[in-house]
Parts: sequence; structure tokens; C-alpha cells
Amino acid sequence: MAQTLSIIKPDGVKKRIIGKIITRFEDAGLEVVQIKRLRLDVAQAQDFYAVHKERPFFKDLVAFMTSGEVVVMVLEGEDAVEKNRELMGATDPKVAKPGTIRADFAQNIDANVVHGSDSAQNAQREIAFFFA
Ligand code: CMP
Repeated sequence: MAQTLSIIKPDGVKKRIIGKIITRFEDAGLEVVQIKRLRLDVAQAQDFYAVHKERPFFKDLVAFMTSGEVVVMVLEGEDAVEKNRELMGATDPKVAKPGTIRADFAQNIDANVVHGSDSAQNAQREIAFFFA
């Protein structure tokens, strides 16, 4: 069984669609095996997204991710990393396939409702970040 980290971002929490998003994971065969709601501080958000620190959007990303509470969870199931990425859709909701979480609920590339690990290796690091 594989595991991946999912974050429902501040826009998803504010829109009260936590349940709708989790239903999509569960309907696709992914099980929520750990979950918590929290607010990231700036240092934590910078650390979590350190891989993007040279990118022009880094400052806005950190500001957005610290703008409200998030829900972080570990999803478990067969091909969990890939399955979660399919369910989320492309990073930019404008190009995400219809029926994906981002196409259905996200406003723009910054407020894109969910984050998911992009590889098994990053999933391990990201899960350890929140669930030591
Ligand atoms: P996420 O999967 O959380 O990983 C990094 C985030 O940076 C991404 O989702 C987007 O919300 C945000 N972002 C903003 N601009 C870009 C961009 N040009 N390319 C990738 N990610 C971006």
C-alpha cells in the first residue's frame, strides 16, 4: 500500500468543501489514515515549500498558505500518489480536466484548493513533516 500527503488549502477550508474533497478520495479507493486541521506559520510554510524558494511565486505561495487554516492528511491506497494527482487535476485550474477537484472548485493557480505530493519520495518527506 502506498501513502501520499494531501493538504486542503485555506481556500478549500473557507469554502467548507472539506467533506466533498474527502468523499472524492474515499470514492476513488483512498483511505484517510491520519488527519488534522492547523494553521501554518511563515517559517513552516517556507520550510514545507523550500523546493520552490527561488521561484517568483514563492512569496505569494507562503502568504496564501498562512492566510488561514489547512487540513493535512495521509491518504493510503494502491498508487496513492498518482491517484491523488489524477483526482486533483493540473496545478492551474484553467487547464485541469473537467471533473477534477481543481477544475470544479479552484479559483486560480494560487488558490487551487489542494496540494498533493508529486512522488513517493516527496510523499515520505511531506508525511514526516506533519506526522512525525
Ligand atoms: P502546490 O501543489 O501546492 O505546489 C506549489 C504551489 O505553488 C502550487 O500548488 C500553486 O498553488 C502555486 N503556484 C503559483 N504559481 C505557480 C506556477 N507558476 N507553477 C507552479 N505552482 C505555482
